[in-house]
Amino acid sequence: MLDKVKHLLKEVEGVSPKSKKELESFRLKFLSKKGLLNDLFTAFKDVPNKSKKEVGQEINNLKQNVQAKIDEYKTSFNDEVFGEEIDLTKPVSSNNLGSRHPISIIRTQIVEIFNRIGFTISEGPEIEDDWHNFSALNTPKEHPARDMQDTFFIQTNPDILLRSHTSTVQVRYMNKNKLPIRTISPGRVYRNEAISSRSHCIFHQVEGLYIDENVSFSDLKQCLLYFAKEMFGEKTEIRLRPSYFPFTEPSAEVDVSCNICSGKGCNVCKNTGYLEILGCGMVDPAVLDNCDIDFKKYTGFAFGMGIERIAMLKYGVKDLRLFFENDVRFLKQFSAV
Ligand code: DAH
Repeated sequence: MLDKVKHLLKEVEGVSPKSKKELESFRLKFLSKKGLLNDLFTAFKDVPNKSKKEVGQEINNLKQNVQAKIDEYKTSFNDEVFGEEIDLTKPVSSNNLGSRHPISIIRTQIVEIFNRIGFTISEGPEIEDDWHNFSALNTPKEHPARDMQDTFFIQTNPDILLRSHTSTVQVRYMNKNKLPIRTISPGRVYRNEAISSRSHCIFHQVEGLYIDENVSFSDLKQCLLYFAKEMFGEKTEIRLRPSYFPFTEPSAEVDVSCNICSGKGCNVCKNTGYLEILGCGMVDPAVLDNCDIDFKKYTGFAFGMGIERIAMLKYGVKDLRLFFENDVRFLKQFSAV
């Protein structure tokens, strides 16, 4: 027995662990429940009395040497928790907080900008009917403008569809609320489009609607100029191009001066100095009539913009699909402030 202990003492002396793993297996070999020292203490009971003192001392010696070896090496590899000890002096690791999604950040900004000039927020359902998505908006069945938006219809009931734009909320809001109306409606919309870097079958829009007596086209222009400056910076200019939407007359598409080259021309704005951000116009009297509003007394303007589009311009994102993939490496680059 004494020989065995002496032999082990020699072994311990020569040990020089090269890694944390080696040190841990050394510890387990000697100090664990099924380790060598426990075996020795068990066997100690059978040692003849006359040798007990000497053998006992050597076993204790061995135990101390093993512990000394561990103490010597335990800080050599790194400062991680070793064995069952916990290092209470270690600095706490910071909490990995998530970040807001860029689409949510931009939607909040848009909403806040219009809130400041008195627009309320309204919402409507994503599963809609033909009336709210098309007919009430002056786009009756067989109207060619229906082709502008490839719509998802429910197969068993062609009257039910996934809304292709947030203009549906205009109709719902006009039906339910007293005049004057000043509201914006953010929400998700659906179109049967091939997914690419510039289009997706699901995306987000914000609709704007203002109805009162004597609302004019210049009110619309001023409102959108205010929005563009708040969103893209004080120096931003806007440009209106005549366009066509069934629910507005006259209609326009609005461009902002390119915030990358300040209007000088670059590859983002394709050397035009301008970027398209939204569609707008004066609400067509037929739409007011469909919502039981006296179109002889009241006029109004409406506009609709894509949130992804604004986010792409604001953050310089070139591929719209990134907003839907939820890759944390992409998402964590955006902060809410
Ligand atoms: N609903 C249109 C679309 O999705 C956008 C739009 C254009 C909304 C003109 C409007 C508007 O309210 O006046 O393409």
